[in-house]
Amino acid sequence: MKNLKKHFYKKKIIITGHTGFKGSWLTLWLQSYGAKIFGISNGYPSNPSNFKILRLSNKINHKIMDLRNLSKLKKMVNKIKPDYIFHLAAQSLVKESFENPITTFTTNSIGTCNVLESTRHLKNKCVIVIITSDKSYKNLEIKRGYNEEDLIGGVDPYSASKGCAELIIKSYYESFLKKKSNIRLGISRAGNVIGGGDWSKNRIIPDCIRAWSKGSFVSVRNRKSTRPWQHVLEVLYGYLKLAAELKKNKNNNGHAFNFGPKKNQDKTVNSLLFESKKHWISAKWLFREDKSFAESSLLKLNSSKANKRLKWFNNLSFFETVKMTILWYLRYFNDENMYEFSIDQIKKYEKKIKN
Ligand SMILES: NC(=O)c1ccc[n+]([C@@H]2O[C@H](COP(=O)([O-])OP(=O)(O)OC[C@H]3O[C@@H](n4cnc5c(N)ncnc54)[C@H](O)[C@@H]3O)[C@@H](O)[C@H]2O)c1
Repeated sequence: MKNLKKHFYKKKIIITGHTGFKGSWLTLWLQSYGAKIFGISNGYPSNPSNFKILRLSNKINHKIMDLRNLSKLKKMVNKIKPDYIFHLAAQSLVKESFENPITTFTTNSIGTCNVLESTRHLKNKCVIVIITSDKSYKNLEIKRGYNEEDLIGGVDPYSASKGCAELIIKSYYESFLKKKSNIRLGISRAGNVIGGGDWSKNRIIPDCIRAWSKGSFVSVRNRKSTRPWQHVLEVLYGYLKLAAELKKNKNNNGHAFNFGPKKNQDKTVNSLLFESKKHWISAKWLFREDKSFAESSLLKLNSSKANKRLKWFNNLSFFETVKMTILWYLRYFNDENMYEFSIDQIKKYEKKIKN
């Protein structure tokens, strides 16, 4: 991890979506390395907000701005002249995408285009990592894991908006960025992640925590659904490795990488609930089927490319993943210092990587 720290120490880093679930963890991690963070988000996607809980606003340059405003974004990127950009900002919820498809498309597709357009005239060296999704793949209902060469697609508005973003990235790379020796670009595709500090609507863990913290039953849809549960730190470690590798050599420039969970990490919602109950003893639930919106079935990722080219691997078992997640919320409701506790989780995770 010393090497990673060295990569980012004192570097100017733009993180879009820094107030979100993943973005706030990434901000925390990188500021702990002594990086100079410039966060760009259009507000706080949830209440409570992990970003506020971690009290990050006074540790970074925190900017509330809509990245659909191209001229403002361009001005800002030009002024900062970042060494790295991690683009995470998105309308990230499938259900919400059915209610607000236009916001989803303009944010996820055009927003990504704006980030690329803002960087293509940069003169300084800059590494850009763009976060799309496993849902960018055309879901062919196949059992094998999708690899980076598989078709891009997406039927529901969220998946389609991420598929569109992928086409835009490819076009910008081939048409402009590839020719620029100072810019390197990588794409990250990951699936459902869990971890402390997620308070989004209609995600299983936050729904459970909201109910259980009030002593209520959580209403669970599709309990037999299998999802590839993965801890947020595993995926963020992938983003950091990708950025560091892009900086070191150009062989991965323009490449996409899957960061999926271990093979045996595909467990049902049922298993997740029972595993959570080991830590949140009073946890209780009710099952209800919800066919109001069509979410694509399980989409597995093949991460061999990231294993081979980035030497990125998962480090946590399903049991550790759930334990770290539930413990985080228990500490939060126990009024503990969540900045310190979250940093401690990062440090423990780093130790695991080393071992
Ligand atoms: N969480 C997951 O399980 C998961 C799975 C696959 C992919 N992803 C992707 O990872 C990224 C981060 O996900 P998350 O769970 O942290 O999302 P989140 O919803 O918690 O946070 C989204 C962030 O984007 C910002 N944002 C939204 N619209 C914006 C706009 N118009 N202008 C500027 N900022 C805007 C929000 O303010 C927030 O900071 C997203 O791109 C998401 O699609 C997430």
